[in-house]
Amino acid sequence: MKQTKNLAQCTAPDGSLMVLQEHDGQFFMKVDGVTLMSTIATSSEQLMAELACAAGPRRVLIGGLGFGFTLRKVLELCGADVEVEVAELLPEVVAWNREFLLEVNGHLLDDSRVKVHVGDVKESIDRAAGGKFDAVMLDVDNGPDSLVHRDNDQLYGRRGFRRVKSALAAKGRVVYWSANRDKGFERELAKEFVNVRSIGAKAYPKAKKFTHTLFVADKA
Ligand SMILES: C[S@@+](CC[C@H](N)C(=O)[O-])C[C@H]1O[C@@H](n2cnc3c(N)ncnc32)[C@H](O)[C@@H]1O
Repeated sequence: MKQTKNLAQCTAPDGSLMVLQEHDGQFFMKVDGVTLMSTIATSSEQLMAELACAAGPRRVLIGGLGFGFTLRKVLELCGADVEVEVAELLPEVVAWNREFLLEVNGHLLDDSRVKVHVGDVKESIDRAAGGKFDAVMLDVDNGPDSLVHRDNDQLYGRRGFRRVKSALAAKGRVVYWSANRDKGFERELAKEFVNVRSIGAKAYPKAKKFTHTLFVADKA
């Protein structure tokens, strides 16, 4: 039987235990024993990039890094001139990408198009006030109705929407990742953005169900 190896662990600011594991060539990140992400289920992370980058953005913000599948898709789609800022709250996640996940997507952190902000994506958003980004992707938590990091609620309400909107260029777009459908969230987004829609996303290509949701919203 193949063994599961614990590669590294750290304590998140909220006290939860984050563990990086490898099993049979696949990687898993667990938070207090629950899988937060893996290298198997990456379809929704990639679809998020496809939706956000449909108009060929020049400046892109991704929060957070995770295992870098959204980053990889953005770089694939956006070509040589794109500037991508990736904000990742946990320095350990960035270090694990460089140490254990180089061959997954970690090498992309050294791509000349990529700038890494080790810190809260809210800082990147606020620094961009005035409309820097053509596309913003927020995959920092489980979704508006099931937040894991309490501080992230500042991104999922009206004030958070205004902060994001201010960071977006005139025709900019934000995409929020969510584990669940949430009609209330869609309605709230529509008070601040236009063309708001929720799109079902599969966890992996052969999945039968659309288990996740991507909320897409445009500034104008
Ligand atoms: C589900 S993962 C992202 C997965 C990523 N889309 C991918 O393709 O692998 C969520 C990441 O967001 C980070 N995170 C959580 N809150 C954050 C915040 N406020 N700012 C930046 N990163 C955050 C977590 O540490 C974690 O690495």
